[in-house]
Amino acid sequence: MAALILPLMGCRNDMHDQPRYKPLAATDFFSDHRSARQPVEGTIARGYARIDEARYTGKINGEDIDQFPFPITKADIERGQNRFNVYCTPCHGRLGDGTGLVVQRGFRQPPSYYEQRIMNAPVGHFFDVMTNGFGAMASYASRVEPDDRWRIAAYIRALQLSENAKISDVPADQQQNLPAETPPRGLNQGPLPQAPAAPAGQPAPNAVPEPGGKQ
Ligand code: HEC
Repeated sequence: MAALILPLMGCRNDMHDQPRYKPLAATDFFSDHRSARQPVEGTIARGYARIDEARYTGKINGEDIDQFPFPITKADIERGQNRFNVYCTPCHGRLGDGTGLVVQRGFRQPPSYYEQRIMNAPVGHFFDVMTNGFGAMASYASRVEPDDRWRIAAYIRALQLSENAKISDVPADQQQNLPAETPPRGLNQGPLPQAPAAPAGQPAPNAVPEPGGKQ
C-alpha cells in the first residue's frame, strides 16, 4: 500500500501552487508578453454606466435642462449647502454674491448669483459650469460627484429664492419665529480689516513673512 500511495501524494497540485500570474508578471503565452490584458474596447467600470444624458451632462440634445433629474429633498439641499460651502465659497462667498476671500485678495470676481442673467439661467447651466468650468473658473468634476453638483445647483436656487423672498413667502405659522431685525448680511461684506500700525522699524504684528524668510 505504502509503495502505491507515496508516489501518488507527490503528484498533488495544491491550492497554494495555483496556475495563475502575479499582477503584471510577464508571460510567454501572449505575443506582447503581458499577462495583464487591456479591457475589451468599450468596457465600462462598474458604477460608471452614465447613459442618462441629462443627469451626467445637464443637457438634452445640447440644451441646458431646467429641471432636476431626480427629486430634490431637504436633505439634498443641506448636502448641497455643505458642498457649496466647501468648494464654492472661497470665490463666490457664502451668499453667492461673488465676494469670497480669494476674490478679496485679488482673484477675478465672479458674477453675483443674484444678477438677472444668473437668476434666469436654467439649473443645467450650473451643472455644466461645475462639470466643464466656465471662463476663469476651473472644472470641479474631479472633486464634486455628479449628483452632488445637482445638490449644489439646488442650493444656489435656494440662495436665489432667499434673496428675493417676501415675508408672505414664509408659512404663517413660522412667521413669529423670524428675528425682529435683519441680521448683518453675512461675513463677506466690507473691506478687509487693516493691520494695526507697527512701531517704526518693526514688522506689523500680523505681517505675512515674504518667501525667502525676510519680513
Ligand atoms: C477659484 C475661484 C472659484 C471657485 C472656487 C468657484 N468659482 Fe464659480 N466662478 C469663478 C469665476 C472667476 C467666475 C466667472 C468666470 C468668467 O466669467 O470668466 C465663475 C462663474 C460661475 C458661475 C456663473 C457662470 C455664468 O454664467 O456667468 C457659476 C454658476 C459658478 N461659477 C458656480 C460655481 C460653483 C457651483 C462652484 C463650486 C462647485 C464654483 N463656482 C467655484 C470662480 C470660482
